[in-house]
Amino acid sequence: MPGLTAPSDYAREPPRHPSLLVNSKEPFNAEPHRSALVSSYVTPVEFFYKRNHGPVPIVDDIHKSDSRYSVSISGLVENATELYMKDILELPKYTVTATLQCAGNRRTAMSKTRKVKGVGWDIGAIGNAVWGGAKLADVLELIGIPKFSRISSLGGKHVEFVSIDKCKEENGGPYKASIPLSQATNPEADVFLAYEMNGETLNRDHGYPLRVVVPGVIGARSVKWLDSINILAEECQGFFVQKDYKMFPPSVDWDNIDWSTRRPQMDFPVQSAICSLEEVNCIKPGKVTVKGYAVSGGGRGIERVDVSTDGGQTWIEASKSQKAGSPYVSDDESCDKWAWILFEAEADIPESSEIVAKAVDITGNIQPENVQVIWNLRGILNTSWHRVLVQIAHSNP
Ligand code: MTE
Repeated sequence: MPGLTAPSDYAREPPRHPSLLVNSKEPFNAEPHRSALVSSYVTPVEFFYKRNHGPVPIVDDIHKSDSRYSVSISGLVENATELYMKDILELPKYTVTATLQCAGNRRTAMSKTRKVKGVGWDIGAIGNAVWGGAKLADVLELIGIPKFSRISSLGGKHVEFVSIDKCKEENGGPYKASIPLSQATNPEADVFLAYEMNGETLNRDHGYPLRVVVPGVIGARSVKWLDSINILAEECQGFFVQKDYKMFPPSVDWDNIDWSTRRPQMDFPVQSAICSLEEVNCIKPGKVTVKGYAVSGGGRGIERVDVSTDGGQTWIEASKSQKAGSPYVSDDESCDKWAWILFEAEADIPESSEIVAKAVDITGNIQPENVQVIWNLRGILNTSWHRVLVQIAHSNP
């Protein structure tokens, strides 16, 4: 792609909100404070987590008449094509509200049980946005691959997305990932080539000018700064698909790992976290409002969120919401199936205790009680019950 920075150039990173908690400066990885996560259903762009593996590339201004930005589509297709932004803008524009969650969300808590490799995250490697753009199914149809195809006429079964950025894990090559062709060509899977986030032009941190959004799937497959699309017989052979973002059992460590034994992680499991309280809190005795988010992968709605104020011995059910003014029903078409819900429960907390949240999705999947049983060397998919400690500050008589 023309018009790009040098691979090691961190001198021209975009401006970022000063309140973000920075987990790594170069590449830039940052998350919002817990309370910012539940202050609105749609996460403002400036508070949306940023997860980069290299410098943010500089791409031609697509509004300039001499912009050379394009996406090439090749591989196992009859007509290899170069798509310009105007071609993508001519396709029907859709919006979808979808939660993006990094597989490493809550990694810091997992690393406390046993060391893991990867950027540390609290509970904020997640956000909910309204993505605007073209459906990948429409783009593929444009180049002769019909909707609902499982295999292209030349035997392609996977769609690979290659980025413009350069990452050290790829030895200075671009970030890339793939999804099955059946998902890419299914309009109901809502896989997007997005050029807007929350009604604004996508900003540089989130993939300007064009990114992939794969709803319900770990964030690693939603490739930013899209450069090319390849139709392949096999899944992408890149680092982030073959040697990362795979879930291993607790028995596997760096001395006995065989990456080929596991499949790349796609859907994320059911997840929830309490955002209105920090890990340790000092509060006055009385009622406390417990607020947080819950979401499940694969478009599975949230059936229930349970909150406990005694470390999990007794539970109350939290209320759930998405958009203001309309009730959330886990399998109702009017609800955003790819988006998180925000939950709320009010509880009396007479003494110091552990407050816990756990969510159940529509198929009855439930978060595991302890992080130890799901420990894995890359520290991904920490979906264990979320716990916070409250200490009661009794005022002196
Ligand atoms: N795409 C490119 N090109 N480079 C990246 O580093 N990171 C991935 C994904 N797409 C990444 C990428 C990961 S791991 C996640 S979780 C999401 O982007 C984060 O998207 P965000 O920064 O917009 O929140």
